[in-house]
Amino acid sequence: MTTDPALRVEELRAQIAYHNKLYHQQDQPEISDAEYDELVRELRQLELDHPDLISPDSPTQQVGFTPSDLFTPVEHLTPMMSLDNATSFEELAAWGKRMERYIDSNVEYACELKMDGLALSLVYENGQLVRAATRGDGRVGEDITLNVMQIKAVPHQLKTREKLVEARGEIYMPVSSFKALNEEQMARGERIFANPRNAAAGSLRQKDPQITAGRNLAFFSYQLAAGPSDFSKHQQTLDYLREQGLPINPISKVLKSLEEVYEFCQYWQSNRHSNDYEIDGVVVKVNDLAQRMELGFTSKAPRWAVAFKFPPEERNTLLKDIMVSIGRSGKATPFAVLEPVFVGGSTVKLATLHNQDQVALKDVRPGDTVIVRKAGDVIPEVVGPVLSKRPDDLAAWEFPKHCPECGADLVRSQGESDTFCTSAECPKQLEQRIVHFASRGCMDIENLGERTVQLFLQLQLLKDIGGIYTLDYDRVRAIEGFGEVSVTNLENGIEASKRRPLSNLLSGLGIRHLGATGARVLAKGMNHLDNILQANAEEIAAVEGIGTVIANSVYEFFQQEENRELIERLRQAGVNFEGPKASTLPQTLAGMSVVVTGTLENFSREGAEEAIKERGGKSPGSVSKKTSAVVLGDGPGAAKIAKARELGIPILNERQFRLMLETGQLEIQDQAVHRKKCSRRPHRQRIRASLTGRLISKNGQRSARRHRR
Ligand code: IVH
Repeated sequence: MTTDPALRVEELRAQIAYHNKLYHQQDQPEISDAEYDELVRELRQLELDHPDLISPDSPTQQVGFTPSDLFTPVEHLTPMMSLDNATSFEELAAWGKRMERYIDSNVEYACELKMDGLALSLVYENGQLVRAATRGDGRVGEDITLNVMQIKAVPHQLKTREKLVEARGEIYMPVSSFKALNEEQMARGERIFANPRNAAAGSLRQKDPQITAGRNLAFFSYQLAAGPSDFSKHQQTLDYLREQGLPINPISKVLKSLEEVYEFCQYWQSNRHSNDYEIDGVVVKVNDLAQRMELGFTSKAPRWAVAFKFPPEERNTLLKDIMVSIGRSGKATPFAVLEPVFVGGSTVKLATLHNQDQVALKDVRPGDTVIVRKAGDVIPEVVGPVLSKRPDDLAAWEFPKHCPECGADLVRSQGESDTFCTSAECPKQLEQRIVHFASRGCMDIENLGERTVQLFLQLQLLKDIGGIYTLDYDRVRAIEGFGEVSVTNLENGIEASKRRPLSNLLSGLGIRHLGATGARVLAKGMNHLDNILQANAEEIAAVEGIGTVIANSVYEFFQQEENRELIERLRQAGVNFEGPKASTLPQTLAGMSVVVTGTLENFSREGAEEAIKERGGKSPGSVSKKTSAVVLGDGPGAAKIAKARELGIPILNERQFRLMLETGQLEIQDQAVHRKKCSRRPHRQRIRASLTGRLISKNGQRSARRHRR
């Protein structure tokens, strides 16, 4: 890299121009947004230090990118500008203070989510959609009217016959649609999109509008750029757009202090993945339109708005190697060994690559610089290589032919995506089976983690799962590092595991196709392990919720001699084989789905969920359209409450929860939710009409309504 500022500026401009083209025209970026921002930041700093190097064609002086020749260029009625960024409270506060100083009176801030999609301009004449255009370079965009006409969320006709209305907003692809699209693309062996934004761009900027039609694109409008001018607040313009039939994001807030604004930003930074669309920040806008006029624009952006940007969830790093791990079923999973990189709140060193096809499709090779993505709690992922940084002659990675643990052949059956180690004696498979048996959600044996299992296997203290219950504790005590306390803890953990529910045991056995839910259903349906042992595949399949694939797999598992032997050893050890007792409680919650969040006073989390299930209800971990009610304890999950509010789902306190358990009736606490949804009806009617389940309002009146969602 050169140290001459003039040369470096040239170098940076060329690089930025190259990446702009990939991002804006080909929808196929090679570097992460964070990396791109770093290039721009370096250029901006150099220009600041050497003002003589600034030139009008520098990317720092421009918005977006010159439109491609794929579509007809159209000049915007007024420039589509960019936004200045803030990444800390200090930067946000500095912007806010400038606003307050300039206006010299109280400022109201309209806070909205910053959609990570593509800016779109929609022009309506006499209410009719006549033109849709991308932002392009801000002055001239691309005419994509025919493609946008295929998007259901964009109305072709507004309610008004106003001569000219221009609505601007963001086209995006819901995360669920993005995942489904990539799965389809993968099945067809076609290009995988790096993220929903690229998928949206790639779907929109197509010559054939039918391709756009087949992709699930959505739209939120956030700006009335032309139209009636009798509004005084931004919020009124949004109401107008909504009334016209344009979708407006319901999540927005008008706030009066910068502290509250920052709280809103922090909240959405922590909950950025709780919606089915990606956001990369919060846009804070001065709400008063007259104040906006006073503030005006710089050459690139309005002074009256700022984008609070969240920290990046994608970073580039070196792919040092691709290795293969062997699981308990013998499955060989390739994984990336990375130069450690801090992304999405933690340091990532390893990332799964799933299977051979995924590696081939992503074409990542040891020695590549790769984009690593870590979004919230989601496991880290290698998005793809940065081709511009690939060293010459870098060989493609080949799936190994032999198991790295035991040397046996690795085999991939026809039509399958997974590859397996073929040895029944593979020591890694045995180790992983024991680790799985002892893990949480199965027999949950404290102090018997992966390291200990490995050590015990090495010392031949343990040879198989059954050996857990005949461990020679004197020999364990003799191992360096195993004091009396840890041995007692281990012993207690193993003893306690004998009392685990049958479903945990079934999960722990690692029967192919039988997951935790299937294990629970089977345990409940068959009531005792002996009943399962004695059943044939049809009898197992007769349990409601168990399909033939699972039933056959369970049957075959228990037909194998060594598995029968294992069961007998577990019986000898006193492991619980009995299923849950059938509930004698009235099934007050039959058909209902109740989510519990936070700590309740008189129930543990498991206890509350159990109480729901014992009464015929379901208690999933997340809020969805199907949720009948959300029970709120201390320290609840903010995302769950937000979702419940958004969907208008009743929120109950502990007392109301107990009432619901007894009677199945919902008495509501969070009436604001319902008020919002049914704002034109009198209060009591509102409550009764808007809820989804069996419902009583605070005065005890009962609604006859049944579930409708
Ligand atoms: S207001 C004058 N509001 O972010 C610009 N922009 O980085 C007015 N964006 O070009 C833009 N969500 O494409 C606004 N709620 C929102 C937004 C939003 C996403 C995009 C938009 C803009 C870019 C700036």
